[in-house]
Amino acid sequence: MRKPVIAGNWKMHMTCSQAKEYLEVFLPLINATPLDRDLVIAPPFTAISTVSVESCGTRLELSSQNVHWEDDGAFTAEISPLMLLEHKVKYAIVGHSEPRKYFSESDEQINLRAKSAQSHGLIPIVCVGESDKQRESSETERVIRRQVEQGLEDLDPKKLVVAYEPIWAIGTGKTCASTEANRICSLIRKWVGFEDLIIQYGGSVKAENIDELMSMSDIDGVLVGGSSLNPINFARIANFKST
Ligand code: PGA
Repeated sequence: MRKPVIAGNWKMHMTCSQAKEYLEVFLPLINATPLDRDLVIAPPFTAISTVSVESCGTRLELSSQNVHWEDDGAFTAEISPLMLLEHKVKYAIVGHSEPRKYFSESDEQINLRAKSAQSHGLIPIVCVGESDKQRESSETERVIRRQVEQGLEDLDPKKLVVAYEPIWAIGTGKTCASTEANRICSLIRKWVGFEDLIIQYGGSVKAENIDELMSMSDIDGVLVGGSSLNPINFARIANFKST
């Protein structure tokens, strides 16, 4: 049985006071959300403590937006798994297309981050996805297969989430057709070789398309950027209707 994971990635948004105001609206809206899904928010590092305290005693889980492979050391601007565990963080996003693009993150580094997360009991959410150029030149499957093989090497698939996020769909309003997203997710499942792997779709997920995406056989949740910044919209996504 695959339990869907609905995760909001706030990226570089939300001060502590904004996060507090957000939760005042959001938390009552997930009171009656069915227990058949996990609900997660990934705040910026500075707001993790606030979200952890304000959501204590609720079902909302926390994710970080990154994690380093060392426990401590001279790694300016990085975050240690131990620092996250102190705030009851459960998941860690790694390999998002933004650090891949802006900071040239490699599959090897992503793999080190994900292995470090797992070895500390954090569940890595490993993002993979092709650019529009790669899709146009029919390289989608080759690119994602490489990201999967290198990024997921030596990881335990039982303690892992993979997020299929086509880069051309992120923040653009252009959602990948649900059948195509489902096809890629099923390929990822086949390549990893573990039937119960949790695979999310991400890229312009919104209240208007969540029910259709979640009705697909191989989509086990979503990673949501822009639409997770509004508590009413994200609550609607969290409350997707399962068919
Ligand atoms: P988006 O972002 O929902 O704004 O497209 C998704 C993501 O970057 O994870």
